[in-house]
Amino acid sequence: MSGNQPRALKALVLSGGAGTRLRPFTHTSAKQLVPVANKPVLFYGLEAIAEAGITEVGIIVGDTAEEIREAVGDGSTFGLKVTYIPQTAPLGLAHAVLIAREYLGDDDFLMYLGDNFIGGGMTGLVDEFRARRPDAQVAVTRVADPRAFGVAELGPDGRVVALEEKPAEPRSDLALVGVYLFTAAVHEAVRAIEPSARGELEITHALQWLIDQRHDVRAGLLSGYWKDTGSVADMLEVNRAVLEQTEARVDGEVDAESELVGRVRIERGARVTGSRIVGPAVIGPDTVVSGSYVGPFTSISRDCRITDSEIEFSIVLDGSSVRGARRVHASIIGRNVEVTPAPRVAAAHRLVLGDHSKVQLP
Ligand code: G1P
Repeated sequence: MSGNQPRALKALVLSGGAGTRLRPFTHTSAKQLVPVANKPVLFYGLEAIAEAGITEVGIIVGDTAEEIREAVGDGSTFGLKVTYIPQTAPLGLAHAVLIAREYLGDDDFLMYLGDNFIGGGMTGLVDEFRARRPDAQVAVTRVADPRAFGVAELGPDGRVVALEEKPAEPRSDLALVGVYLFTAAVHEAVRAIEPSARGELEITHALQWLIDQRHDVRAGLLSGYWKDTGSVADMLEVNRAVLEQTEARVDGEVDAESELVGRVRIERGARVTGSRIVGPAVIGPDTVVSGSYVGPFTSISRDCRITDSEIEFSIVLDGSSVRGARRVHASIIGRNVEVTPAPRVAAAHRLVLGDHSKVQLP
C-alpha cells in the first residue's frame, strides 16, 4: 500500500442488548432510542461518528432491529452509509466483532456502544488512533466507582498493561468508555477467548489477549462528559447535561400570559398558554402546554399535552398527557401515557411509567 494514503476506517455500532435496567421502556422500545433532549441517544453517537470523518457504519442489531432500522434508515440523514448486522442473541461485545468479520474485512474500525453518551464527540480519539495506529486503542475516563465498568491499568508510556472487567477491587480509577479502535489484529483475539462468567464474549478479554500476545494496546483519555445510559437515573442525568447546551429558541406559539425563563426551546407546532417554563427545557413539536409550570432539565417530546400540572427534571415521551399533576419530579414518562388526577392531592410524585401506561394519582 502506498505510504500517505489514509486507511479506510469503518465504524461498528452496537445496538443490540436487552436494556433490562431501563424497563419498562425497553419492553416496547430499544434503549438506544430513548430520547435525550428529544433526540434518541444513538443519534448523538452517529453524528459524532460522521463528524470524525467515518462514513461506513455497520450497526449490530438484536430483538429491536426493526425499530432501529426505522429510526436510522440507510444512514444518509447523518451522512453515513449504514449496513445492518443481525445478532441472534446478546452474547457480548467481542461476539459482535466476531459476527461482523465479513463486513469489516481487514479494515481498521471504531467500535461504539450505542447506549454510551460522549459529550465531546470522538474526533480526538479517532485522530489519535490515526496518527499512531497501535494494534488497538481503548478510551478511558476517571470515575469515582470503577467497579461497574471495565478498568484499565496503564504503564508510564500510556500503554495498557492490564484490563479487568468489573473488578471487585479495581487497580485504577480508569473506566473503559464505550469507544474502541481496532486494527484487524482483534479478529484473532475474539476467536481465541472463552465466554465469561456472565456467558458473554467480553471485548475486555480480547484486549487482554492482545496485550498478552505483546500487541501494542494504547489508551486515549477522555476528559469531557461521558455517561453509560443504562438506567433511569443515567437518562435523566444525560438529559440534564445536554439541556445545559440548549439555546433559547421559539418555533412554536407562546401566548402573552406565558413566561419563558432562560434557555427554553419551543419546537415547531408547539403551543404554550398560561404557563411558566423555566429552562433549560425543550417542548417538542405539536405539544400543548397549558396552565402549567415546566421546570429546569425537562424534555417534553412531540404530541404531548401538559395541562394544569407541574413537572421538572423529567422526560416525557411522544403522545403522552399529564393533567392536574403536582408536582412530577425526576420522572420518565413513556409513550402514549395518561397521567390524570384522582380526588385528593399529594405533595410530590416520582414516576417511572412505561409506554402505554395509565396512572391515576391520589
Ligand atoms: C461494557 C464493557 C465495559 C465498559 C462499559 C462502558 O459493559 O464491557 O468494559 O466499561 O461497557 O459502557 P456492559 O455495558 O456490557 O456491562
